[in-house]
Amino acid sequence: MVEEIKRSTRKEREEWIKDANYNLFKLASDQVYIDLLTDSGTGSMSANQYAEMMTGDESYAGSKSYFKLKETIKELFNFDFMLPTHQGRAAENVLFSVLVKEGDIVPGNSHFDTTKGHIEIRKARAIDCTVMEAFDTQIELPFKGNICLEKLEEVLKEHQDRVPFVLITITNNLVGGQPVSLENIMRVRELATKYNKPVLMDSARFAENAYFIKIREKKYNVHSIKEIVREMFSFVDGMLMSGKKDGICNIGGFMAMHSEEWYEKASVFNIIYEGFITYGGLSGRDMGALAIGLREATEFSYLETRIKQVEYLAKKLDRYNIQYQRPSGGHAIFIDAKKILTSVKKEEFIAQTLAIELYLECGIRGVEIGTLLADRDPITRENRYPKLELLRLAIPRRTYTNNHMKVVAKALRNVYKRRHQITKGYIIKYEPSLLRHFSVDLAPIGAITKEIPAIKNEIEVHRED
Ligand code: F0G
Repeated sequence: MVEEIKRSTRKEREEWIKDANYNLFKLASDQVYIDLLTDSGTGSMSANQYAEMMTGDESYAGSKSYFKLKETIKELFNFDFMLPTHQGRAAENVLFSVLVKEGDIVPGNSHFDTTKGHIEIRKARAIDCTVMEAFDTQIELPFKGNICLEKLEEVLKEHQDRVPFVLITITNNLVGGQPVSLENIMRVRELATKYNKPVLMDSARFAENAYFIKIREKKYNVHSIKEIVREMFSFVDGMLMSGKKDGICNIGGFMAMHSEEWYEKASVFNIIYEGFITYGGLSGRDMGALAIGLREATEFSYLETRIKQVEYLAKKLDRYNIQYQRPSGGHAIFIDAKKILTSVKKEEFIAQTLAIELYLECGIRGVEIGTLLADRDPITRENRYPKLELLRLAIPRRTYTNNHMKVVAKALRNVYKRRHQITKGYIIKYEPSLLRHFSVDLAPIGAITKEIPAIKNEIEVHRED
């Protein structure tokens, strides 16, 4: 699908971002020239996906499109049981309704924000065991998304009775779309088995992860992406999937597992929250498009083209000395905002300030992965300051050309050149009690004098530290 994009003037953008209360989520899409807010649901579907949609079977129960998706999941990941959902977080909601209870601890590598939300809303806790090297953007290592095995073992030892499962997120989105090695997946499996725990995969970008295993983990170089995918999933008990990423769909998701018991219990929640077990909130045509998209995403030539485009942008940034999480990841470039805006205080939202500057410069929309996203501690309601302040530029699949990447790099270079003039950030005018970055209202420092006190958490959550 090809869509028109619109250019704008700086004056127009100044007005629009002010009206949006300096929250890029509140901009209308036609106020954006190049939209790198997310790679989720924003890719272009193929002719084969559209062709499949035309033959979508819209039966309420037992649709042909459901069976097509089920067969594809069996072939690619080797799971016998699966439930479709309308997107990834819905799969989290359904499966966690079965597996997570109050007081539980879920260790993993940088749980995605909705994943963490679904854990915390159940008064359980997510513990991040990502390797330390991921938090230094300039260290160049092949698998910065890995789980630190020592940390994981500490958690498993200390909280043995309270861990329902270990969660591996591939690729590790929040530290830069960094991959997890097959070696690490195997070691996590070994540890989990030692403590008698299941392992789940948050698989949104599984194909990009498999590409990196092929390219960077020598032993697997001769294997096809599909073989590597089968191998990756042979070590886990189940998967959560957002079809909006490596399913190359505009909507869709599923969970899949070996355990019939999990499947039966999850089916009840799926029917309540999503829809009957053979459609789960999706139309038949969506399930058909997802079945085709999963296969296309595991073609080497597609993956190579995609990931080389991310690399292309990275190389341009190298030329301008703009620092980002190295090496460049699978779906996005993560600009190290602290290294650029050295005078903006952390209380003034450094990465968000950079995101706004890039928008003002050229109408490019990225997303803050920093203090706004990290949100407040559910108990103390203090800001949680993360180790990194990143501006994520996520690249939609099969959508933009390298010419667009050139524009992005040049716009960043212009912001970089005037970085010393950007000394002030933003203050919060309004924020909701959970997942605040989507709907927060901000004002430039000096525009209002007093921060509005954070509102009390309406949704009761529990954390011990
Ligand atoms: N897990 C990971 C690793 C994700 O990146 C996302 C979504 C989800 C789960 C939830 O899936 O959106 O289908 O409900 N990530 C998007 C992003 C929103 O922009 O990174 P969903």
